[in-house]
Amino acid sequence: MSEMQNIQWFPGHMTKTKRQIQSSLKLVDAVAEIIDARIPVSSRNPDLHKLIQNKPRVILMNKCDMANQTATKMWIDFYAKQGITAIAIDCKSGRNFNKFPSAVNTVMKEKIERLKAKGMKNPMIRVMIVGIPNVGKSSFINKIAKQSKAKVEDRPGVTRGNQWFTVSNNLEMLDTPGVLWPKFDDQIVGEHLAFTGAVKDQVIDAELLAVRLLDFLRRLQPKDFIERFKLQDLDLENTDSYELLQMIGKKRGMLVSGGEIDTERAAIMLLDEFRAAKLGRITVEMPNGELR
Ligand code: G4P
Repeated sequence: MSEMQNIQWFPGHMTKTKRQIQSSLKLVDAVAEIIDARIPVSSRNPDLHKLIQNKPRVILMNKCDMANQTATKMWIDFYAKQGITAIAIDCKSGRNFNKFPSAVNTVMKEKIERLKAKGMKNPMIRVMIVGIPNVGKSSFINKIAKQSKAKVEDRPGVTRGNQWFTVSNNLEMLDTPGVLWPKFDDQIVGEHLAFTGAVKDQVIDAELLAVRLLDFLRRLQPKDFIERFKLQDLDLENTDSYELLQMIGKKRGMLVSGGEIDTERAAIMLLDEFRAAKLGRITVEMPNGELR
C-alpha cells in the first residue's frame, strides 16, 4: 500500500492543477469544498486553506446517504464550533441542495453587506466547487445545472470558456470544478480512500484491503456485517479478520476447484458491498477521533 502515494498524483500534476485552481479563484467570491461524509478527514486536501488564501469557504459533506446520520450531525457541530459552515448533501436525491445558497450567503455576509451599503441591491456572488477525485463534484454541478433555468451568458470580465449557472437569485456557480489531491503520504488516509473506492482498485491488493476493512468494521459495527453475512454463530473474539473473510466467502459459496475458498472474490464482493452502503451507513472517521 506504500505505492499509493505515487498513484494518480505526481508533483507536475499538482502544480498544474494548483495553477488552474488559482486562475479560477480570481473569478469567484467563495469556494464550496466537497468532501465525502464517510471520510471527512481523508477526503479533504490539507493544504486547501493555503491554496484558496482568504476566500470564504463552505463545506459540502456529500454522499450523506451512505454515511452514519449521527456521525454527520457530529461533524456539522464540530465544524460549527470552529466557525465553519458545513451542510450535509447527497447528489442522488438532491437532499439539502436548497440549503446551499443560504450557506454561501452566510459565509459571504460581510461582503454582501458592504456591497449593499454601497447601494447595490442584490449583489451577485460567484462560487466554485473544489474537491479531491470521486467526492461527487461533477454530480453536484450536473444536478445544479439541470435545476438551473438558465446558463449565464458570456459577459465582460468573465473569461470565455467558463460556463456559469444560476443557483439562486444572487448566486452563480462555475461549471468546472477544481480538482484537489488527497494526502497520499499517510497510509491510513490512502486506506480510507481505498475503502470508499476513491483510489483505483488495480493498485491495491483487494484481500489486504478487505482484511483492513474487516479490522475496522469488527470494532465499529460488527452487528451489521454479522447479519448481512449470516454469521450469527461467529466467535468474533477468536476469529482474525482473514478467517472472517474466509467465512464470508464460504457463506456466499465462493469456492475454487478443490473446495478452497476464493478469498479474492470474497474481498472484492465485500469492498463492493461496503462502497454501495449495503453493509450499513458507515462513517469511517469521527471528529476529534484518531484516524486509526
Ligand atoms: P468527482 O466529479 O468528484 O470525481 O465525482 P463524481 O461526481 O464523478 O462522483 C463519483 C461517484 O460517486 C459516482 O459514482 C457518483 O454517482 C457517486 N456519487 C456522487 N455523489 C453521490 C451521493 O451523494 N451519494 C451516492 N450514493 N453516490 C454519489 P460512479 O459509480 O463513479 O458512477 P455512477 O454510479 O454515477 O455511474
